[in-house]
Amino acid sequence: NLKTVDVFDEITSTNDHALASIEHYTDHLPALIVARSQTKGRGRGTRSWFAADGALTFSLLMGEADIPIAPLAWHRCSIVAGVAMCQTLEQYADGDMVQVKWPNDVYLAGRKVCGILVEKREQGRPYLCVGIGVNVNNSLEQAPFDVQQRAIALTDVTHHQHFLPEVLLEFLKRFRSLCSENAESFASVLPYWRSHCLLTGRQVEMQQGERTFVGECHGIDAEGALLLETSSGRRALVSGEIVRW
Ligand code: BTN
Repeated sequence: NLKTVDVFDEITSTNDHALASIEHYTDHLPALIVARSQTKGRGRGTRSWFAADGALTFSLLMGEADIPIAPLAWHRCSIVAGVAMCQTLEQYADGDMVQVKWPNDVYLAGRKVCGILVEKREQGRPYLCVGIGVNVNNSLEQAPFDVQQRAIALTDVTHHQHFLPEVLLEFLKRFRSLCSENAESFASVLPYWRSHCLLTGRQVEMQQGERTFVGECHGIDAEGALLLETSSGRRALVSGEIVRW
């Protein structure tokens, strides 16, 4: 049900473009913005996102009418997007290899294959931009050692090239169907998340502003908050950065 598809050879950031152009897109939503490469790709927090040629890089800009979830619960979309991408990659790689890392990174063979940046804007009405970068054909086998330790591309496990529009469509289909399934409850995404959670059972350190929480991860709760069993009891953390696991 996309109303706009804009494809760029090179752009600063698909999220920046989408959010700066809300007025332009507002009557043509949902809008998909795809770029072959980004010069200023952004990650969560203050991180940047860099990917060589062959990665899949896009943003999905949506308004209230496009998301069957009340704006107050849009934070769920971030979890749903991670699950939808995890299920997408499972089509190509062995299911046991694909995991989600809270809030919505996707890991393949223990390394990051996909990052997701979800941003909400109020501009008269609420808008949501789901920005996704996936390492698909941009092999990281020749990358510096420290990068190789942390990141991987789909092709590094499948050993063949993938058709990016196919991967993209597979994701869009799943994201849309999971969103509508979860209009009433978040329930159907949770079992999948729990069975694919990279952090469950691990000692996790989470930074939330000035505060640090350390504890064993027990997955996520019904709203998508990360559950940590800390020395002072169980905590459900809705936001924060995982600094160690
Ligand atoms: C992260 O891992 O911290 C999130 C990375 C998100 C990267 C994607 S690529 C498409 C979209 N445009 C951006 O500038 N960032 C997101």
